[in-house]
Amino acid sequence: MNHVVNLRGGGAAFVIDLTGPTPVVVHWGADLGESVHSGISSNPVPHAYLATGAKQELFPQASNGWRGRPALEGHRAGGQAFSSSLVTSGSRATAGGECEITLSDPDAALELVVDIRLSGEGMLRMRSTLTNTGRSDYSLLSLTTPVPTGLGAAEILDLTGRWCREQHPQRQPLRQGTWLREYRHGRTGHDSSLFTAVGSAGFSNRAGSVWATHFGFSGNHSTSVEKTPSGSALVGNAELFSPGEIVLLPGETYTTPWTYAAYSAEGLDGVTEVFHRWLRSRSTHPRTPRPVVLNTWEAVYFDHDLDTLIELSASAERLGVERFVLDDGWFRHRRDDTAGLGDWYVDDDVWPNGLTALIDDVRARGMQFGLWVEPEMVNQDSDIIRAHPDWISGPGLGRTPVEWRNQQVIDLVNPDAWDYVFARLDALLTENTISYLKWDQNRDLVEMGHAGAPSTHQQTLAAYRLIDALRQAHPTVEIESCSSGGARVDLGILERTDRVWASDCNDALERHTIQRWTEAILPPELVGTHVGPSTAHTTARTHSLSFRAIIALFGHFGIEWDVRNLTDAEFTELAQAVGLYKTHRGLIHSGTAVHADLTDPAYALSGMVAQDGSEALFSFVSLGTSPDEIPGRVGFAGLDPRADYRVAVVFPTLTSPYRDQGNVGWVPDGIVASGLFLAQVGLPMPILNPEQGILIHIVRSTS
Ligand code: GLA
Repeated sequence: MNHVVNLRGGGAAFVIDLTGPTPVVVHWGADLGESVHSGISSNPVPHAYLATGAKQELFPQASNGWRGRPALEGHRAGGQAFSSSLVTSGSRATAGGECEITLSDPDAALELVVDIRLSGEGMLRMRSTLTNTGRSDYSLLSLTTPVPTGLGAAEILDLTGRWCREQHPQRQPLRQGTWLREYRHGRTGHDSSLFTAVGSAGFSNRAGSVWATHFGFSGNHSTSVEKTPSGSALVGNAELFSPGEIVLLPGETYTTPWTYAAYSAEGLDGVTEVFHRWLRSRSTHPRTPRPVVLNTWEAVYFDHDLDTLIELSASAERLGVERFVLDDGWFRHRRDDTAGLGDWYVDDDVWPNGLTALIDDVRARGMQFGLWVEPEMVNQDSDIIRAHPDWISGPGLGRTPVEWRNQQVIDLVNPDAWDYVFARLDALLTENTISYLKWDQNRDLVEMGHAGAPSTHQQTLAAYRLIDALRQAHPTVEIESCSSGGARVDLGILERTDRVWASDCNDALERHTIQRWTEAILPPELVGTHVGPSTAHTTARTHSLSFRAIIALFGHFGIEWDVRNLTDAEFTELAQAVGLYKTHRGLIHSGTAVHADLTDPAYALSGMVAQDGSEALFSFVSLGTSPDEIPGRVGFAGLDPRADYRVAVVFPTLTSPYRDQGNVGWVPDGIVASGLFLAQVGLPMPILNPEQGILIHIVRSTS
């Protein structure tokens, strides 16, 4: 075991020194080549310090001199084995860029296997499995996966949010102490940060060193950035348990969810590229063109009427829609949000002949049919809860959790309840031609319990099992993860779903920020983005159709609007946007994401550049008014500097976003320039009205 493990991939390296009693991380950052030195991990031992000195332990414990947050907390009866001394007992390379390191503490009767993988895309994944090798029960309080940062780490960037305002950035200096985020929502949470980034001073979209992690789990969890007086910053991700929730019986194990980490020397876009490439390399990643969606929610809400929906289906077909999704309101008792959840039978009053007439109509028009479900939830006012009141998950003690949107959580840890939900969904998918489920989950899970004991962990895994089982039974059905908008956006749920709904807010201005930061980790093909009504239902802001369409184009595009009575002008412009999406979705869903560093926050330039540099699609949008008279020049990064490109504004062409229509420079005729020129000199942008945008297509010129 006298060696150094040098995992390499995608220009990054994770180096672990195994020569001492416990594994020490030498480096997480840029690739160092093949030869790395051991023995460089020792720091001077300060006066008034533990004899071990300060080292960047892979698995920090008090027994190896760590006085920060312990990676493992647990105990046996009477507080025995309260502190572990897990030392290296084995290591093996499991494949190129992958290794497992085993740590054992025979006296505490614990064994830990740390699984570390660095992929060819540069994605570092880590998880650990703890086994109780003793003869008594071991109460596990927490098991954290710490990821170190590197030289120059000076600032923390993470995200926060609320319903209709998910994934908004917040930034602060990295100081001594712990920046701790705890998410006790029983789901990922509206405020849950998609990533925790630590970077060099002033790191930006395109510049600076960045170490970012993501926790791939949809239940209670915490993230922390900790800097002690004696070390660099550690980013920790862990599941959060309630008291007594995880007790390992002799021989039992607990495995942490995956922690994902990416390093970039070129700002946040470098981190984004690692995540996008890795996600796109998965065998389960959606590979068919992402169909244009029409979702009925903001068009008709609960007001389900066959004739109306058939009119909507006809309008959708004329616009070029490819997937028609019937949202909430189709099942028994579901006339509003006070009743029916759990009664997964088509409502006989509203749908006397079942869903078949609508499904047939949609399919005859060449569109797929999708259906909304919320399988983890129940209303108290439902046949299923009248029959099984004990199927509501809660703390026991004769009470149920506080309500949220009139609903409770069905106890999926109870096998009978799980079987019932599975059987109903299985029947719906078997009896109807359904290509897509919008799988919703619309409340925080507080006080989750099964048989009086805490069960958030088990409930989360049971929900995962439910989706997995349905996928196995119906492998061609795609599933979207929705959770009051974007409250369950994480790589745990995305292991088993095909897209996420980023937010219930279809206001294009709000969506711009929500989608920019969701895209920091998720490629656009995994993120649902819809053109909503002219006046947004969740903010009452009114936006031009072209601005709404431009924002929606950079995702899995759809429409969520009653399009039966559009004006001719609206119809033509929306159909044009659908056409643009179909033309460019191949590029948007495979390209490299670029977010320019502009100095004026009133504007944003972002886009997707083809992997081979042959073309790019950018949006330039104004997010408000600017103190400056003109936007000035903006540079287009990511293109081949040696190639010449033709640059043209392709949308809008029927309406004007411009402040001064007569003076928009190169816009009417387009322009040819080299990639180098476009990046270094840039192009002067036209003056836009606030909350307007243009779509710029850049194609390598052949002449
Ligand atoms: C949630 C979803 C919405 C819609 C409604 C239906 O709020 O986020 O998109 O499906 O439920 O009740």
